[in-house]
Amino acid sequence: GPVMCGRWCFRCLWRGISSSTMKFLLAFDFDYTLIDENSDTWIVKCAPEEKLPIGIKSSYKKGHWTEYMGRVFIYLGDNGVKEAEMKRTMTTIPFTTGMTDLLGFIGMNKELFDCIIISDSNTVFIDWILRAGNFHRVFDEVFTNPATFSDTGYLTVQNFHNHSCAECPKNLCKRKVLEEFVDKQLQQGVNYTQIVYIGDGGNDLCPVKFLKKNDTAMPRQGYTLEKLISQMSQDLSPIECSVLVWSSGIEILSYLKILVKE
Ligand SMILES: *[C@@H]1O[C@H](CO)[C@@H](O)[C@H](O)[C@H]1NC(C)=O
Ligand SMILES: *[C@@H]1O[C@H](CO)[C@@H](O)[C@H](O)[C@H]1NC(C)=O
Ligand SMILES: *[C@@H]1O[C@H](CO)[C@@H](O)[C@H](O)[C@H]1NC(C)=O
Ligand SMILES: [Mg+2]
Ligand SMILES: [Zn+2]
Repeated sequence: GPVMCGRWCFRCLWRGISSSTMKFLLAFDFDYTLIDENSDTWIVKCAPEEKLPIGIKSSYKKGHWTEYMGRVFIYLGDNGVKEAEMKRTMTTIPFTTGMTDLLGFIGMNKELFDCIIISDSNTVFIDWILRAGNFHRVFDEVFTNPATFSDTGYLTVQNFHNHSCAECPKNLCKRKVLEEFVDKQLQQGVNYTQIVYIGDGGNDLCPVKFLKKNDTAMPRQGYTLEKLISQMSQDLSPIECSVLVWSSGIEILSYLKILVKE
């Protein structure tokens, strides 16, 4: 708890109020978590015959997804696919069951929840999809590969950052993002009561390993992250935080309601 000076003073009063304020950090993955698809795969619907030539498909090298997507976007541009068509296609992606209810609840309780996205998709896709659902105000920050349309109308994408983590793809270590965000918030005086990390994929394991005893990892039922976490407990090196499996946003919503009533 905060150190008090023993008398009534505004500084101590303020510290007391700030330290007793509950604030939760909700960190979301995007593909197959908030939306029920992979956005980078969905964009292929814009390609001629909705498929990529074998030359592009076979050019993917493990850990170099962003470069691969760069080639996909050049192919789409070369085939005359314009921004408006991409946007129309991307905004038809369904949200995962219960996610719109969950985001609605978080949006109405922003004094209790900070909310971020850490994703290997890109800024353009996520911005289109969040705005189409009118959910962009729910999120404080979106950490993903920066994308933009060039003067010639081609979509281009860059790596999010450089890192030295051996476990993660070259362009993004979600643990580094989470660590830096939490540090930045601490410097602003925000010490989260609890972090809840919600994801499905293999690249969500690294940030989950950063979570402490009081935090919660929420892996999607039946997806890679859940399997990796249960593998770790079988190998007798369980992760430190609590684990709660979900299959619908409604289950996450129920958990958040319990958290804020405590
Ligand atoms: C990563 O490092 C390379 C080489 O130092 C640099 O050119 C590049 O701009 C860096 N990328 C980012 C996103 O910081
Ligand atoms: C954040 O809060 C926890 C729990 O109250 C406390 O143990 C920790 O020292 C705090 N961290 C900082 C940097 O204030
Ligand atoms: C752990 O989380 C609970 C809420 O679930 C909170 O009441 C408690 O203060 C947290 N403990 C620390 C050390 O932050
Ligand atoms: Mg995912
Ligand atoms: Zn990592």
